[in-house]
Amino acid sequence: MTVRSPVVVAIDGPAGSGKSSVSKAAAVALSYAFLDTGAAYRSLAWLGLHRGVDLTDAASVVALLPTFHYTTEVEGDTLVVRVDGTDVTTAIREPRITAVVSEVARIPEVRGALTEVFRRLIRSTDRPGIVVEGRDITTVVVPDAQVRILLTASEDVRIARRSAELSPDAASTASQLRERDRRDAQVVDFLTAAPGVTTIDSTELDFGQTVQAVVDLVRTTTSPH
Ligand code: DC
Repeated sequence: MTVRSPVVVAIDGPAGSGKSSVSKAAAVALSYAFLDTGAAYRSLAWLGLHRGVDLTDAASVVALLPTFHYTTEVEGDTLVVRVDGTDVTTAIREPRITAVVSEVARIPEVRGALTEVFRRLIRSTDRPGIVVEGRDITTVVVPDAQVRILLTASEDVRIARRSAELSPDAASTASQLRERDRRDAQVVDFLTAAPGVTTIDSTELDFGQTVQAVVDLVRTTTSPH
């Protein structure tokens, strides 16, 4: 499928690569909209737990899809996420969701349905462009995006960044991050760049430099020659 307008900046990468905060800051710098696709997978996992559904049972998770009403709205500096009108912005970041979200994300019917939701949200943006971040954006959701980026960092650096964000317990952060990447990588390969995808390795870059690298790539790719 073709999504030509607005300009789509597709960014994939593993957990702890700084993808989410870098994508958000790049979107602000470019005056583009921002779509965090992981938040939708997290919201569906939240709904499943809220309804007492066994998330390891794919059929029960798929049965949730027709009643999954997911919306996002920018309020001040925050992207507010709602499921059926309930504000789940904070709840979907809790460790209990992070621990189970891969169960939901591995189900093909869920991926197909959410991909359609993402394409609709991309088409409906009122901005000149949109930064979309996730695991399969460059390969499945918008493979013909004008700008396609794989944002990586060494595993040590990703673990250090996650520990600083979440808890001082680096050992448990390390094992959780490795385990989630291992499970997620069985479903989509977000560790190698597909043909035509530019790798930005942030191992040696600070936050501002990484955002700048993304913004520079967007500007050079989209500026008229
Ligand atoms: O980026 P994140 O940690 O918020 O993503 C949450 C989960 O959703 C992650 O474990 C993998 C999954 N995911 C996915 O499979 N495909 C996407 N496009 C985005 C996220």
